[in-house]
Amino acid sequence: MERVFNFSAGPSTLPEVVLRKAASEMLNTHGTGMSVMEMSHRSSAYESIHNKALQDLRDLLAIPQNYKILFLQGGGTLQFAMVPLNLLRNSKKADYIDSGEWSKKAIKEAKKFGDIRVIASSEADTYSHIPEFDAADVREDADYVYFVSNNTIYGTRFAQLPDFKEKILVSDMSSDILSRPFDVSKFGLIFAGAQKNMGIAGLTVVIIREDLLGFADPKTPVMLDYAAIAKDNSLMNTPPTYAIYMAGLLFEWLKDLGGLDAMHALNQKKAKLLYDAIDQSDFFQGTVKTEDRSLMNITFRSPSPEADKAFIAFCESRGLVNLKGYRTVGGMRASIYNAMPIEGVEALVEAMSLFETQWKAQ
Ligand SMILES: Cc1ncc(COP(=O)(O)O)c(C=O)c1O
Repeated sequence: MERVFNFSAGPSTLPEVVLRKAASEMLNTHGTGMSVMEMSHRSSAYESIHNKALQDLRDLLAIPQNYKILFLQGGGTLQFAMVPLNLLRNSKKADYIDSGEWSKKAIKEAKKFGDIRVIASSEADTYSHIPEFDAADVREDADYVYFVSNNTIYGTRFAQLPDFKEKILVSDMSSDILSRPFDVSKFGLIFAGAQKNMGIAGLTVVIIREDLLGFADPKTPVMLDYAAIAKDNSLMNTPPTYAIYMAGLLFEWLKDLGGLDAMHALNQKKAKLLYDAIDQSDFFQGTVKTEDRSLMNITFRSPSPEADKAFIAFCESRGLVNLKGYRTVGGMRASIYNAMPIEGVEALVEAMSLFETQWKAQ
């Protein structure tokens, strides 16, 4: 079978050149005569892969020197607990913006550890837009403010990243990290699972300002303490070595492409192509507020669930897969992360037009 265009929300498509590079190095990585999966995490061959990945990520995001990058496991979901465990350091209060399923889960988890308040929510509108919020609503003594930069399920994103001035800002960037440049110094902590824009499942990246390290309760398990992980350069125990290697290949690929400005321009072009097709059609319809549309996860629907189903099958027959929307939303979701080539989006747009004509002719 030929390679398909895979619109999965995560784990998701990877650049073909990266997969080919990984394949070419599988049996003998960097002259070691073994794959990365077989290397000791204490070997110099592995350490150079590890440290290069850290440095390339630092370069790509222009991460200031007073921030640590941590390579962890447990997915984005473990961060829903690690963030409050480590950052509820004074008042034990934190304020959250509820913009989708993933913020809701993070709020539920954080409530186990402190006094969590939701300062804005768009749940009543099925998260079809980013909720309005007022920086003045953040409690004076809140230890941090939390938001999800891109809502993978609903297809919305913060077009402008919020600014809460002197407050510690925490963001779950699982589904849009590395899709656009942003100023890391405005954040206290950023986290993201790797399986969308940074490679494969098994690795979670945390970027944390150094002065926020060291506040976890002494009873916190060592694996959940950012300070302990940072102290050992994310090598306290066996890290997810192959996932780190793959992330490293992704970072190299992004650098070769011209970095985040070039990536952002391409992402805007891809998203515009698809949104224009949706807007120009009287058959397909976007599901979220135009200003809040995500560049990564594009949600839309046809006039009926039957037509959605038929369209998804039609796409599959043309090698365009994983377009079914999340169960709470229905319709379609095309995840077009960094690694989705523009040809994939063009093929989808063509399929939309063909299907619409066929369906109307019935
Ligand atoms: C924005 C966001 N946060 C968190 C998660 C949960 O990540 P994980 O499955 O790595 O725990 C996801 C998963 O899709 C996500 O999209």
